[in-house]
Amino acid sequence: MCGIVGYIGKREIKHQLIEGLRELEYRGYDSAGIAVMQEGEIRAFKAVGKLANLEEKTKNFETRGLGAGIGHTRWATHGKPTELNAHPHMGEYSYVVHNGIIENYREIKERLEKEGVQFLSQTDTEVIVHLFEKEMETKGDPFDAFKSTIDQLDGAYAVLLLTRKAPDTIFFARKGSPMIIGRNGEGEIFFASSDAPLIGEATEVAYMEDGTVGYVSPEGLHAEPVELQFVPLSGDKMTAQKGGYRFFMEKEIYEQYQVIGDTMIGRVLDEDILFEELDEAFLNGIERIKLCACGTSYHAALTSSYLFERQAKMPVNVEIASEFRYKEPLLTTDTLFVVISQSGETADTLEALKMAKEAGLKTLAICNVDNSSIVRLADATILTRAGIEKGVASTKAFATQVMVLWMLSLFFAKKRQTIPQETMLDELRYMSYVPKVLQKSLEVHEKCRRLSKRYLHGHGFFFIGRDIFFPLALEGALKLKEISYLHAEGYPAGEMKHGPIALADAELFTIALMPKTLLYDKTKSNVEELSARDSTILAISPEMFELADDFILTHPHKHPMLEFFEMMVVEQLLSMEIAIRLGNDVDMPRNLAKSVTVE
Ligand code: F6R
Repeated sequence: MCGIVGYIGKREIKHQLIEGLRELEYRGYDSAGIAVMQEGEIRAFKAVGKLANLEEKTKNFETRGLGAGIGHTRWATHGKPTELNAHPHMGEYSYVVHNGIIENYREIKERLEKEGVQFLSQTDTEVIVHLFEKEMETKGDPFDAFKSTIDQLDGAYAVLLLTRKAPDTIFFARKGSPMIIGRNGEGEIFFASSDAPLIGEATEVAYMEDGTVGYVSPEGLHAEPVELQFVPLSGDKMTAQKGGYRFFMEKEIYEQYQVIGDTMIGRVLDEDILFEELDEAFLNGIERIKLCACGTSYHAALTSSYLFERQAKMPVNVEIASEFRYKEPLLTTDTLFVVISQSGETADTLEALKMAKEAGLKTLAICNVDNSSIVRLADATILTRAGIEKGVASTKAFATQVMVLWMLSLFFAKKRQTIPQETMLDELRYMSYVPKVLQKSLEVHEKCRRLSKRYLHGHGFFFIGRDIFFPLALEGALKLKEISYLHAEGYPAGEMKHGPIALADAELFTIALMPKTLLYDKTKSNVEELSARDSTILAISPEMFELADDFILTHPHKHPMLEFFEMMVVEQLLSMEIAIRLGNDVDMPRNLAKSVTVE
């Protein structure tokens, strides 16, 4: 989704802005632009496509000394990805960049057009800059005009504005879309949509509350209605870089065995599960769980629904956030409403959370980004601690979400006394093996690389599995289609004969998840049915299967979750290798955004 950066300081401003935007590339975009102000003059540049195009356009432009700049990567919502629609949008003497959606832009646009304003783009954003200049005519003071502009906007926004009427000043406002402001001891000021561009640049940051409006210049910072609270920013640039891997996705797959240890630390004890984030009073009266999320996070939720019912004997239901919002759901206050989100900014999930809060439910966020909108809204949060995930296709975030949810199912099981202590100890022991399992699973990487060349064509992939391996099949199919652009679907293995099997022929590839610890024989029968109809079978299993055309042998394990984590890695590596062979940019697949902040 769109990314915003801003900078005030003495370093070369164009470079600062473009490097900042580069850190946000992982969010997905289709055009980019910057506006730079020095000595009261503003220059703006825009380009469709990758940042390299913007760099090319600005190669003869350079700043020296103090100045201010704003930059933007756009992921098209209103209007095609063209240069005219790219940000910054300009008025007579001001420039604006914006993330989010201005819902009432049509009314504002019509009003301004009647007053003689000419619009250049099809975007909702352009109204902001013209409205600001209209307000300037009556208000005279830039901040008053900016505030009055923001007051008239409905929807979600993170906005930065430069105007020749206020040298070296950036005006900012935030509601519903993420924006962070950073500063350092050198007097430099930074803005960004997420931490990534600020790491190694700012020493402290403030996460703006919804409704914040203000301005900053070398003379100082002003924010309303509440002052900004700065906190130290930790982390270094290296951790945000690829570290020798070809893609962030690859690095993130390889990191899983380490970050999952962080997820568990202090929570998985020898004889117990501890969540300091959840106090006794918070959980009193909870009898059921509703899990709500989108995409990969939804698959994590679906996986855990089996665990909650099996271990904690709690009724669980799982909702896709975009469906939940409009189904007029029946909500009861004995339900714990759990939202799962890597980014913490997904618009549908955030809105679902608001609905649950309004209905008086207790809410819990399982999230990877501290201080994100979802974290700030939920009553309680369990952070997944996966570290920054840059690959658009989620990998380590999924692994850590599943781990937190498995832990949570045991936490509830213990509280509700639904599993014997002996079983609890076994679960904890198996859980402690997960980092090792994730590490060993990487051994199949070369095999996936070699196999990938046989799976570049065909008319589709079926990923199939039973029980918790059904959501894993959904996740495998999603991973593959996101980055390879091949058609893939996930199904419960037992569903094939109810329709999908009609597609089976030699050009249909079945990726069969065949764990030994859970319903092996049942799954095997389903795979045999597909094989009998000539589907090409790639079996992923610790047991050889004579009907498989291809085989990825996994390690034998004693617990289904250990098989789950190993097969998850196999799916990730296989999808990545297929996509690489097809020549795709797996970190920035077409049409996708990392943080989906629009509905
Ligand atoms: C898939 C993927 C998406 C996200 C979905 C929800 O690889 O990344 O399906 O899982 O957009 O995003 P979050 O988890 O940030 O709410």
